[in-house]
Amino acid sequence: MIAPSILAADFSRLGQLVLETEAGGANRVHVDVMDGHFVPNLSMGPVVVKGLRPITRLPLEVHLMVMEPAKFVESFVKAGADSLIVHYEVLPDPKPLLREIRKLNCKAGLAINPGTPTEVLEPLIGLIDLALCMTVWPGFGGQAFLAESPARIAEIRALIERFNPTCELEVDGGVDLKTIGQCASNGANVFVAGTSVFGSPNGPRAAVGELTAMALEATKK
Ligand code: DX5
Ligand code: ZN
Repeated sequence: MIAPSILAADFSRLGQLVLETEAGGANRVHVDVMDGHFVPNLSMGPVVVKGLRPITRLPLEVHLMVMEPAKFVESFVKAGADSLIVHYEVLPDPKPLLREIRKLNCKAGLAINPGTPTEVLEPLIGLIDLALCMTVWPGFGGQAFLAESPARIAEIRALIERFNPTCELEVDGGVDLKTIGQCASNGANVFVAGTSVFGSPNGPRAAVGELTAMALEATKK
């Protein structure tokens, strides 16, 4: 499943570009929310989710790269978010917030940064619908995929198989035609792609198709 990250899109044509990814077979839209504290960059808020909601049939997935995610959960759900991904690093005990997200009829995701040991997910995996393995340090689009990522993806896949096999395993950062194969063959099944979709010379529609084909190819081997 491909989740185009709109951070890399031309915002003056956002609706049209999202529809092109939908036509190309995208599975969901990835919305990167940054607060200038947890990450050194600012991006978008619930108003963008609200604007996209009537435009596309695709689920809207919100990646909260913020210090205080609990403050914003309700407003994103109200705006039309279908799933909310929060970061392990800012939550001393993620359980109450994960439960709250699910209570709001929203899917709950938990993200870990490249520096966070994958084992932290073990006691939490039963409470989430999606684990997000960051394959770059969050904050900016267009960064290079980190070489240690495939091994981390495989570790998370093993935890998921043991403790919650229906949990999705998503990767985010530097995912393109060169790196998506290693993500898929190590067990990821949802692929966030910003630059490789919206920056593709073939356009977002074709890019989603090419990434999907490449991921499928890698899982056949
Ligand atoms: C990074 C964001 C990513 C980013 C991915 O902080 O969480 O979702 O937009 O962009 P690319 O695919 O360009 O690395
Ligand atoms: Zn993201």
